[in-house]
Amino acid sequence: MNKNLDRINTGTREPDTDNRTMSLVFAGHVDHGKSTIVGRLLADTGSLPEGKLEQVKRNCELNSRPFEYAFLIDALKDEQSQGITIDSARVFFRTGKRHYIIIDAPGHIEFLKNMITGAARAEAALLVIDAEEGVRENSRRHGYMLSMLGIRQIAVLVNKMDLVDYKEDVYRNIVSEYTRFLNEIGVEPRCFVPVSGMNGDNVTPEINAMSWYSGKSVLDVLDDFRSEPDTAERPFRMPVQDVYKFTRFGDSRRIVAGTIESGSISVGDEVIFYPSGKKSRIKTMEAFNAEPGTSAAAPYPASFTLEEQIYITRGQVAVKSIEPAPRVSTNVRVSLFWLGRKPMIKKKEYIFKIGTVKVPARLGNIERIIDASDLEVDEVSDRIERHDVAECVLELSRAIAFDPADEHPLTSRFVIVDDYEITGGGIIREDVNDSLSDVRERVFLRNYRWEKSGIPNGRRAERYNQRATLIVITGKKDAGKKPLARALERLLFDDGRFVYFLGIGNVLYGVDSDIRDSKAEDHAGEHIRRMAEVANIMLEAGMILIVTAIDLGLHDLNIIRTVISPDHIETVLVGDDTGRNISYDIYIDPSEGPEQGAARVRESLQEKGIIFRAW
Ligand code: GTP
Ligand code: MG
Repeated sequence: MNKNLDRINTGTREPDTDNRTMSLVFAGHVDHGKSTIVGRLLADTGSLPEGKLEQVKRNCELNSRPFEYAFLIDALKDEQSQGITIDSARVFFRTGKRHYIIIDAPGHIEFLKNMITGAARAEAALLVIDAEEGVRENSRRHGYMLSMLGIRQIAVLVNKMDLVDYKEDVYRNIVSEYTRFLNEIGVEPRCFVPVSGMNGDNVTPEINAMSWYSGKSVLDVLDDFRSEPDTAERPFRMPVQDVYKFTRFGDSRRIVAGTIESGSISVGDEVIFYPSGKKSRIKTMEAFNAEPGTSAAAPYPASFTLEEQIYITRGQVAVKSIEPAPRVSTNVRVSLFWLGRKPMIKKKEYIFKIGTVKVPARLGNIERIIDASDLEVDEVSDRIERHDVAECVLELSRAIAFDPADEHPLTSRFVIVDDYEITGGGIIREDVNDSLSDVRERVFLRNYRWEKSGIPNGRRAERYNQRATLIVITGKKDAGKKPLARALERLLFDDGRFVYFLGIGNVLYGVDSDIRDSKAEDHAGEHIRRMAEVANIMLEAGMILIVTAIDLGLHDLNIIRTVISPDHIETVLVGDDTGRNISYDIYIDPSEGPEQGAARVRESLQEKGIIFRAW
């Protein structure tokens, strides 16, 4: 009786074992022999359910069809009809060393999407290349994608050696050609193995018709792969999914909830939320339908309360203050794989999703495109075609927190959504200096040193019947910004609101007096930063603050958004667009006149729940 019987399962049930299970992916071009090698591996390690091999062979005879080891996989899946593996089949088996889950990734181009999701969970990969056909488009494409997904342990199996009379030079040529390609994309293969899935050569050490090869068999290669450290042992990362409020009267506590991507957290740990840099300590762990413990770890959901009430929102990433910080940037250099029917182009707005956050994004500089259908790196163009992989810069409309793929593959993965469909995905290589780094660092430090008020923000909001907000009014010179600002201040004040119009001169001659006299160009950003810092203090006091700015550009707005949380900012455009490519929250036609305009802004603030309607 085969003791591994219960280990063979192609469904979703995983073996119930305490031992670490390593997941592997077999990838490579269509028909190069992935399923055959996996089938052979199962057969030759005695991992098949008793009688399965004979049964499949008998079936083939009955249907006068030559037996294929690949049928074993399909038979285990009860799907033999098409003769190709149609989805990422999962096969469980074990060696003397450990348990494995094998993902037999389909090679057909249509299945690439499945391959991305299938390979995403793998710790190591075996890339199969047909000795007779040589390196083909998916050999490269899959190799590139594996490296993109942060799978560092890659072994290459040169299969069907029987078809080339087991010739060493054929094998050597493929080894050197593919090594060159892997080097180009920064991957160092673990090893190459000449095999014949059909005859079993070098699948296990027992069979080898190649006297010139004395290296490892596939089975040895598997056992030589290192297990990746458990995600729970990595630094703590939890993208915030939601912030819930206790409903009992007078209780201002909030529960922060999300799924822990990596690491662990305990009561008493100091956490920092990125990109805001706000910090607090874990007060209690919470559980909705169970007794809460005092700690939680990846890959499980967690919720907790904090000692101090700080303002955090969905999309921020919780990190332990004693562990390495994530990166924060609006510009990121990525390796991207494009699946969209239409090419990815510049100027168009896409949705970039990472963790729990969605941000509008545009394609910036394209540094390199690899067209996987030939062996060359393409001419750099201004678009990324379907199935191309590109190294490029993405410009996000807001800063995000992430980890570079080299350090932390899980929190570097993103997808691009266009028209509700996933049209691309990849990993972030690094942050690109977005000229906001200085501002950001100052804000971190300010938040870190911030003396929290004893009165929670929520209580001020209740008292003043409003949500503290900065209203930035912009437009061309003489568009009527200041009259509108004054009219709005008066209107809101007369309503009983806690409101103030901060004239730019009030900042310029006081807070900015040290830099006012030097050349204005050099200090444009610094003026904005200081104005925003002043605004931040007034917002903290619960105020609705109105400011005006001529021709506000995206960079200026990004400075303000770095200093003040973006959901506390409303932008109003008066008159013609300044041509600065910003989307505004509210548009006012100057011909309406300031009173009418102010009434429309008020209406919009009411609709957004910034000022609570009088009842
Ligand atoms: P897809 O799942 O469709 O991408 O294909 P695959 O890579 O899983 O290939 P599969 O294992 O189905 O093998 C494709 C064909 O190659 C089958 O007809 C196999 O019998 C044949 N084949 C696989 N390995 C060998 C080998 O070592 N020698 C010879 N001669 N044929 C092989
Ligand atoms: Mg297959």
